[in-house]
Amino acid sequence: MRTVIAGGTLVTADGACAVDVLIDGEKVAALTAGASSISAQWRESADAVVDATGKYVLPGGIDAHTHMDMPFGGTTSADTFETGTRAAAWGGTTMIIDFAIQTKGSSLLAGMDAWQKRADGVCAVDYSFHAIISDVTETSLKEMDVLVAQGVTSFKLFMAYPGVFYATDRDILQAMDRATSNGALIMIHAENGIAIDAIVASALARGQTDPIFHGLTRPAEMEGEAANRAIRLAQVTGAPLYIVHLSSAPALAAVVEARDRGQNTFAETCPQYLFLSQDDMDRPGFEGAKFVCTPPLRPREHQAALWRGLRTDDLSVVATDHCPFCFAEQKELGRGDFTKIPNGLPGVENRMDLIYQGVVAGEISLARWVEVTSTNPAKMFGLYPRKGAVAPGSDADIVIYDPAAEQTISAATHHMAVDYSCYEGMEIKGRVETVFSRGRRIIGDGAYTGEPGHGRFVPRRLSQALR
Ligand code: URP
Ligand code: ZN
Ligand code: ZN
Repeated sequence: MRTVIAGGTLVTADGACAVDVLIDGEKVAALTAGASSISAQWRESADAVVDATGKYVLPGGIDAHTHMDMPFGGTTSADTFETGTRAAAWGGTTMIIDFAIQTKGSSLLAGMDAWQKRADGVCAVDYSFHAIISDVTETSLKEMDVLVAQGVTSFKLFMAYPGVFYATDRDILQAMDRATSNGALIMIHAENGIAIDAIVASALARGQTDPIFHGLTRPAEMEGEAANRAIRLAQVTGAPLYIVHLSSAPALAAVVEARDRGQNTFAETCPQYLFLSQDDMDRPGFEGAKFVCTPPLRPREHQAALWRGLRTDDLSVVATDHCPFCFAEQKELGRGDFTKIPNGLPGVENRMDLIYQGVVAGEISLARWVEVTSTNPAKMFGLYPRKGAVAPGSDADIVIYDPAAEQTISAATHHMAVDYSCYEGMEIKGRVETVFSRGRRIIGDGAYTGEPGHGRFVPRRLSQALR
């Protein structure tokens, strides 16, 4: 099957220009100047020609942080790999990297096996896994090497959630040490969980049980402190470090300082920290529960620092931390006690559109939009240039984006298996029009034309982002 995408503006991390794309089977076969004689020849012999006049043509988005079908907070995240990857496709994301969890007392490999079974045969788009280490032992450290050889080259540890995933500084140091020999990338959830638990206990003792107290008991300084500690542990071991879901100015300041002294320190932020704020957790009634995630939404003042970080490359990636829980029956578990609200927000479908609003508002350039949502995640997690690029030999994961379209975000029209949207009623510019996943058109003419199981597990190489 040979398809030509003609007449569009190819947008990559390097810029934008009029380029036509030839897809052959699952791969990008060639590029040529738009409206050239070569393009005319292609169009004559192609099986399909897609007119992208007036549209952007870009590498499919890569969401490097999702939690499909994840047991957490006494319930399970509402999107399965089937529904979540289909929603991702609708939003122009053609690959996700989810997290396989090692449960305490069990092995890393058993966790990976369990998550592979959850995803196998049901995904709409390609996928890969990071591994969550919740039990650092001699065995799990050795298993890190095995997973790296299998293409799972990044490992997340938590400085938050004591009693659940929490890792001590000793655990983190040992995992980082191992990463320096096997080449893995250590990902850290940076919040001082021990101090936060003490603050939470005091709040509950005062009868402060509403959703807003989820935010007020997890101060940004506790994220900054943990980020700095993780960075210093990484410095001592020499391991590269990636801080996930960075939400606040103090944590960003720690990253900037590390990068300025030349450390291989990277960070991602998420749309919720760029567009939502602590005020949302204070909505009347129990509505605030819809906005409970960890780290929490911050006072609006932090947003300008995050946009700046995206511009200066101190924030390299925008991922979603998609971890949806329905308001009915799931978020409602925390009525009367905010600590029982399952932590996490839906967003896998909205990420490309929301970050495009940063282009519309002049916060970032068009090329930077593609870089932080596709190319950088590909490089960070060892997928480039198979993913994150539209270049000869790359997988034909391609989005055709209509910059002139207008839409209103709503739970009534989204495809995530969750009964609310954090962005309900938000009017935005731009819309995903067509999506190719490895050469197959899976979104087009307002319909999903893919199928469960089209998405395959993609083994990854070591990070290509290190300096
Ligand atoms: O609230 C969140 N972020 N839920 C998912 C788990 C995590 O910490 O990433
Ligand atoms: Zn986390
Ligand atoms: Zn997460």
